[in-house]
Amino acid sequence: PVPSLKELYLPYFDIGAAVNLRTMESQKELLAAHYNSLTAENDMKFERIHPQEGVYAWEAADRIADFAASNGMKLRGHTLVWHNQTPDWVFEGEGGAPASRDTLLARMKEHITAVVSRYKGRVYGWDVVNEAVEDQSGDRLRQSKWLELAGEDFIANAFRFAHEADPEAVLFYNDYNECNPEKRDHIIRLVQSLQNQGVPIHGIGLQGHWNLHGPTIGMIREAFERYAELGLQLQITELDISVFDQADRRTGLTAPSAEMIERQAERYEQIFGLFREFKEVLTAVTFWGAADDYTWLNDFPVRGRRNWPFVFDANHQPKPAFWKIANGL
Ligand code: XIL
Repeated sequence: PVPSLKELYLPYFDIGAAVNLRTMESQKELLAAHYNSLTAENDMKFERIHPQEGVYAWEAADRIADFAASNGMKLRGHTLVWHNQTPDWVFEGEGGAPASRDTLLARMKEHITAVVSRYKGRVYGWDVVNEAVEDQSGDRLRQSKWLELAGEDFIANAFRFAHEADPEAVLFYNDYNECNPEKRDHIIRLVQSLQNQGVPIHGIGLQGHWNLHGPTIGMIREAFERYAELGLQLQITELDISVFDQADRRTGLTAPSAEMIERQAERYEQIFGLFREFKEVLTAVTFWGAADDYTWLNDFPVRGRRNWPFVFDANHQPKPAFWKIANGL
């Protein structure tokens, strides 16, 4: 028999999965058996839930919230303010001009208030701001319409609006390449400056889009240690472990090799061992999917390339990686 991941990890942290309406149906038994937390892969993003000014499309997000509730799962909200998957109208002003700072912040407030209020008491925490830090070097925030039109304090404002709408919600800053030392330190400085201004922020989301080769265990450990010094809770929010090394651009593989599967299992073993060491600060580990029949990594970042990043295979059976993280607990 296959033990339940969520039950094995009860003494440690929640086990989450990202879903869309298709996988919520095709993977429903697996989701109910092994996961106690859910995230909408796309259906709570701005372009989906608020496609036009004054028009909200709640149906898909509501179905995900209902599924979580009827299966006794927690629900994370993803995401309120991001440079991607946000409709153009948000940034447009009168007569083709860009929106003014005031207009943009008013729209942000209206959006956050509507979405957070609707799921109050159902979504326990939100990725309030996603990916606002620049990847390469320096101290710059990512170039985006939010930054360009509203200025740096769009971030503080987003957190304040979310807190007003649901004072109980756990509010996260979420980002990727989060274990890269330079970017890590920049994220830390950003969060410290929010804390110094009294901005309501309660957690750091580490996306965890990793591969066979990186980040190294040493980098992940150091990242956990540094982030933990902020005194906030940490979550892994979008875990997947690509079976390819960074430089491997090979396409056309229809199944992973035995070697990939073995190396992936070893990576999962080490990584979950580390996660367990940090159980005092790490409150959830969410996979960006659940089983290898669907991952956003198919075709990304290499077109025509499939991927197999999870601990369950395409038939929802446990892979060697599953047994590595399940055994000996
Ligand atoms: C991805 C989804 O998985 C895709 O379906 C979509 O086309 C693009 O976005 N970081 C995030 C997630 O915070 O929202 C992204 O999700 C993956 C990277």
